[in-house]
Amino acid sequence: MFRTHTCGQLRIADTNTTVTLAGWVQTVRKFGSITFVDLRDRYGITQLLFSESLNAELDANPLGREFVLQVTGTVNERSNKNNNIPTGEIELLVTTFRILNKSMTPPFTIQDDTDGGDDLRMKYRFLDLRRNAVKKNLELRYATGRSTRNYLHENGFMDIETPFLIKSTPEGARDFVVPSRMNAGQFYALPQSPQTFKQLLMVSGYDRYYQIVKCFRDEDLRADRQPEFTQIDCEMCFVEQEDILNMFEGLVKRIFKDVKNIDYTDVVERMTWENAMWTYGNDKPDIRFDMKLTNLKFPSYTFPQQQNISSLIDGVDFKVFDEAETVIAIVAPGCSEYTRKQTDELTEWVKRPQVGMKGLVFIKCNADGTFKSSVDKFYSEEKLKAIAEAANAKAGDLILIVAGAEERTRKAASDLRMYMGTKLDLRKADEFKLLWVLDFPLFEYAEDDNRWVARHHPFTSPKPSDIETMINNNPVIENPAEYLKHPYANIKANAYDMVLNGNEIGGGSIRIYQKELQQKMFAALGMDEEEQQHKFGFLLGAFEYGAPPHGGIAFGFDRLCSILGGSESIRDFIAFPKNNSGRDVMIDTPSTIDDKQFDELQIKLDLKA
Ligand code: AMO
Repeated sequence: MFRTHTCGQLRIADTNTTVTLAGWVQTVRKFGSITFVDLRDRYGITQLLFSESLNAELDANPLGREFVLQVTGTVNERSNKNNNIPTGEIELLVTTFRILNKSMTPPFTIQDDTDGGDDLRMKYRFLDLRRNAVKKNLELRYATGRSTRNYLHENGFMDIETPFLIKSTPEGARDFVVPSRMNAGQFYALPQSPQTFKQLLMVSGYDRYYQIVKCFRDEDLRADRQPEFTQIDCEMCFVEQEDILNMFEGLVKRIFKDVKNIDYTDVVERMTWENAMWTYGNDKPDIRFDMKLTNLKFPSYTFPQQQNISSLIDGVDFKVFDEAETVIAIVAPGCSEYTRKQTDELTEWVKRPQVGMKGLVFIKCNADGTFKSSVDKFYSEEKLKAIAEAANAKAGDLILIVAGAEERTRKAASDLRMYMGTKLDLRKADEFKLLWVLDFPLFEYAEDDNRWVARHHPFTSPKPSDIETMINNNPVIENPAEYLKHPYANIKANAYDMVLNGNEIGGGSIRIYQKELQQKMFAALGMDEEEQQHKFGFLLGAFEYGAPPHGGIAFGFDRLCSILGGSESIRDFIAFPKNNSGRDVMIDTPSTIDDKQFDELQIKLDLKA
């Protein structure tokens, strides 16, 4: 037998038994004539003791870090116990050993706090994966997958695979394409998601489908994005939005229980997109902390149902506010004593190009009930007090105000809120808050083409009450500067996102299932009939053969894992990820291909200089 136990298994109760272990050498410590070795495998570390009798043999066959070793010996109670590891009460008194393989000295230490930088660890990812920290992440990923499969299976979902070589039908990002040798000059695309296939499965009657599936998107990378990533992809027929929300709240709660042993008993909050934008300036707000926005001024067409309170800031000839489309305040609790240096630092922060504000206005709500602001010249104490009241600021708080164009200012207010939330330690790593964001706009304006694009994807149905607006209005945007005033800007979708601690972990919608409405949707996106047939003829055709009402959702599996694991970066939860330039530096790809391959594909490479 290669091994009788793993390196994480032996306990005090095993004392005096003879066992065989196999694993990797973590450390070698020589003390005179005896040698201690920490032997590691996936399950843990066991201390080996090589006594004097093995000295000569060890000298002849010296052990190095990461050597692969098989040892047989007797389990001994340790005199010097280590309470930090489960095997810490015992050690193995080695009687025989065999070096199964040697190892070069690894380029970085295989330890939790390794000395290896990111690039080096990615190049030697197979060594990085030996580290506990990475292994724990992959274990969490596995547990999340298992919990998902169990829940969905118990609820009647069937795992059905869909193809990877499909047709290019961009869904927002660019496609990765694959040339076809047998059909020269033609290309497959890798799926950005199995969206159309899962809808076809609904037409076929597989009324509860799921798949934990790779998706491919050629888009700019960020910490929470990879060119190939995994979705928990689900679809159901004969459902309404409410059914989907309930089913998938259940999934996430089950994952919390199985993976983190958390009983998520809170009601999952729900918020319309409009409310999220109004209250947090963001469609994926982190609701673990308050700091809601106070909209002192905003263009009426954006939030027609909200009351304008700009009289609080108007009429004092303060040009920055007068000329701004939008003015938003947030309250930093307990920060009224910020020094000049601290407020300057915040001003610099909002002036960075990523945030793009021209400056920041402060109102200090002093502990003694007085007010001091950076705009005292314009605002009397009484006016400052009124603003503070509107913002719900208390004595001891600091009010931060940004002003400018609507979209940019709202985003800046949201960014600033998150920044202050982190700074003030209000975003607790061990707290999880789920939120449904509902009723997204159906369309988004694409400036480059001056046309509408589907915000989620073109298969999402409008709210029933908005279908008429869609049918009765011309989608053409006459005045690009005022696109927000076009009736299409207000059409809402039957779409929902699940947000966890400020991250979009999933999104889905109730779908269009009637051919005519689907055609209308494609036309609204600027597709003529020929293009509709070329790209989506198969789906329009399927809708003619008894398509049932259906809807679904997909969760970002890597993203969900990274949040559960308390990390910002999804790369840590993917065994073999790509770097920020979309490269796998370990296998060194993307790479060139042989001339022969080009010939077979009948492709001539003509790279522009
Ligand atoms: P969507 O495009 O919103 O919806 O994707 C669903 C979820 O996938 C995750 N995600 C990503 N994760 C890592 N890297 C990426 N590049 C990446 N892009 C998206 C996000 C997101 O919430 N077919 C629809 C789903 C549906 O309508 O049912 C879809 O793909 O967490």
